This record gives sequence, structure tokens and C-alpha cells, in this order.
Amino acid sequence: MNKKIAVIRGDGIGPEIVNAALGVLSTVADKFGHTFNYDDVDMGGCAIDKWGDPLPVEMLKKCIESDSVLLGAVGGKKWDVVPGHMRPEKGLLRLRAGMGVYSNNRPAKIWPQLADASPLKSEIVDKGIDFIIVRELIGGIYFGEHKTTEVNGENKATDDMSYTESEIERIGRIGFETARKRGGKLCSVEKSNVLDCSRLWKKVMHRLAKEYPDVTLTDMLVDNCAMQIVKDPSQFDVIVTENMFGDILSDEASMITGSIGMIPSSSLGNGTCGLYEPIHGSAPDIAGMDIANPIGTILSASMMLKYSFDMENESDCIEKAVYNVLEKGYRTSDIMPQDELSSSCEKVGCRKMAELIIDEIKAM
Ligand code: IPM
Ligand code: MG
Repeated sequence: MNKKIAVIRGDGIGPEIVNAALGVLSTVADKFGHTFNYDDVDMGGCAIDKWGDPLPVEMLKKCIESDSVLLGAVGGKKWDVVPGHMRPEKGLLRLRAGMGVYSNNRPAKIWPQLADASPLKSEIVDKGIDFIIVRELIGGIYFGEHKTTEVNGENKATDDMSYTESEIERIGRIGFETARKRGGKLCSVEKSNVLDCSRLWKKVMHRLAKEYPDVTLTDMLVDNCAMQIVKDPSQFDVIVTENMFGDILSDEASMITGSIGMIPSSSLGNGTCGLYEPIHGSAPDIAGMDIANPIGTILSASMMLKYSFDMENESDCIEKAVYNVLEKGYRTSDIMPQDELSSSCEKVGCRKMAELIIDEIKAM
């Protein structure tokens, strides 16, 4: 198959982790007889420096015209001073909205080799951690009006949050469909004891539930959910929630699996063109040091193959390769056991980790 992939390296560790993932993708292409053409796209701080805009329209166009987009990470201290509408993160939000990718899928699954890296007690981890957060990605407070005005001699900041029934329904359906393909349990997370948006959310979810009798729907308030994720994560199968709650809960969920560096994500709309990115940020403090964990990005590329290109075997091959490398004891520093000296694991850098995964793929 021939596929055009838009590639956004971004800022901080973005270029290192994306290069690692491209090495893996090219190896898979060779092995399975595909051709992947890469089209570089500037977004984030680097685009502000080069073009004075975190996502110039031509760049967005390249993404929309591609078969899918692979993204590293954007942002950094350097651009903290620019106005809100020009921040690197704004480029990312415009990309998500421009591509119409309303459904963000973030798996929280513990790799057996990394059980010790979880900050949770082993009796909790041993019950199993394997759930998915389905996050609404292009609505809610992220996309409402943001403004700061002066009232009675002081500044007043306002961020609007709104959801329409149809916006809730389309993400709700993804939640139900995802649960249907997994354990059949969907937990809808909101704050209906306070917010109108959440009351509407809950109402729509229950209306949809009638169409999915094979899925068990439960409701949970977001503060309780934050607690339950650390108390007993084994209770969750699929969580569906709005944009900001999903942002926060997915960081929490990633941490209990050992490291945020391991978690990929897919974002899809109505078509097959998706946006694939690790859920971690640009980590400017370790940029250029070759110590970042490229696995979250490599697994994002693997999700791209599965969900956008229908290449199930190719995707499985990458996951198996990651499994084997972990099994052999190779670790980047974020997943290295605390007691490094007495551990049988070997610490490797970003490039080396990618090479090891590539060797496994070639050997399969
Ligand atoms: C994420 C990130 C982004 C978000 C930032 C960088 C805008 O935290 O993908 O979770 O809040 O969505
Ligand atoms: Mg986040």
C-alpha cells in the first residue's frame, strides 16, 4: 500500500521521538512491502519562530490532505510569553479542530515487565490495569471563548464551556462502540452535580444506552473517578468523558501504568485520516540529550497502522517488538527500576531503544 504521512516533529524532544518512530515505520514498510511517503509539517514553537504562526494554513492543509498525521510534541518555556492565541499549544488545538478529530483514544494498560514502575501498591496493580479513556477532543472549555477584561479596576478572566447534544452524542457513540468491542463496560464521567454541560452529557449518554443493550453504562463524578483510578483501576474498561476531564484523567491513568512515556494516542473523526501522538509533552529539560522514551510515539505509529490504514499485522508486529525489547530488560531512564545497580535491566537512550525495536521487527 502507498500512504502519505504528514510528520510533525514539533519542539523539545519531539524531533528525537518522531525520528525513532519513522525508523520503525520504514522498517515495517520494507518488511511488508508498503511505501510510506513523509511530508514534513511545521507546527508549534518551531513554526512560531519560522513563520510567526503556530500552525500556518498551508501546514494544516498538508495534514488534511495526508492519509494520517504523526506528531511528536509541541511547546516549551521559550514561548510561554507569547499571547494565548499564538501559543504553540494553540497550533495543536487548531490542528485537532481543523482535522475534525473529535474522538481521542488513550489506552492505560500496564506492561507486565513494568509492573514495578507503577507507583501503586502491587496488590492494586496485580488486579490488572487495562482500560481506555475516550476523550472528546474538539469541544468544551478548550474551544469556548477565552477573554480577560477589566472589571472594577481588576482583571477578570473568563473561559466558556459549552456542549451541544450532537457533540455529546457522536463521542458517546464512540464510547459505546469501544466498550462493545472490549469488556462491555462503559463509565461516563462528568460533574453533573455542578455543571449544566455535565447534566446534558449524562442525559444524552442514557438516551444512547438504549441503543446499546449489550453495554453496561455507569456514571461517575470526575472527582470520584480521579480517586477510583488510583484506588481500584481494575474496575474500568472504557471511560468516556469531555475534553478537559479527559486531559486530566489521562495523565493520571498513564502514571499508574509506570510512565507517561509509554502511552500512545489516536484521534479520529468521521474519516480514516487520524492524528497520532504520544500523550506526553515536549519535555524541553531533556531535549537533545537522547534520553527520552520513544515508545509512546512508536506505539502511536502502530495505532496509525491499525486504525487508519487497516494494517493489523503490521501494527501487531510493532507491539510484539516493543514487548520483546522490554522482556529482554532494555529500559529508557523513565522506566528504569529505581535501584539501578542491583537490577538486571540495561539502560538505553532514545536512539538505541528504537534500534532495538527495529532489530526485533527485522528478526520476526
Ligand atoms: C494533551 C496535552 C494538550 C491538551 C496540550 C498540549 C494543549 O496536554 O494532549 O493532553 O491539553 O490537550
Ligand atoms: Mg494533557
